[in-house]
Amino acid sequence: MLAAALLALAAGSAGAADINKGGTLYATHCASCHGANGTPVMPGTPNFRRLESLMKPDMQLLTVIRNGKGVMPGYFGVLRDREILDVVAFLRTLS
Ligand code: HEC
Repeated sequence: MLAAALLALAAGSAGAADINKGGTLYATHCASCHGANGTPVMPGTPNFRRLESLMKPDMQLLTVIRNGKGVMPGYFGVLRDREILDVVAFLRTLS
């Protein structure tokens, strides 16, 4: 987690994902099923603290989050790609 935060700080450029913003969006849109700290609330949800379902490139996670999967709704039209990538960066700090 610290490493990810330092990396984000070091990157510092306009293109870097914003983990803090991602965390806020996660709390609003995702925590009801995925849990505030990534421990699932809803059965059948991957445990992000154990890196479940996160061993994939950012772009692949972006696609799943946009389109939804199973009972998980898609966020296309709700979150912009930029915002989804912020959330993905936050997910990578949970383990
Ligand atoms: C209604 C409950 C619910 C909400 C809200 C929800 N999810 Fe999920 N999510 C799930 C479930 C259930 C799965 C497992 C889907 C499956 O494998 O069939 C899942 C799977 C995932 C996966 C793994 C995808 C994969 O490739 O296996 C990611 C990443 C994810 N969710 C991220 C998010 C993010 C980010 C948000 C908020 C923007 C979010 N989820 C909101 C229930 C939810």
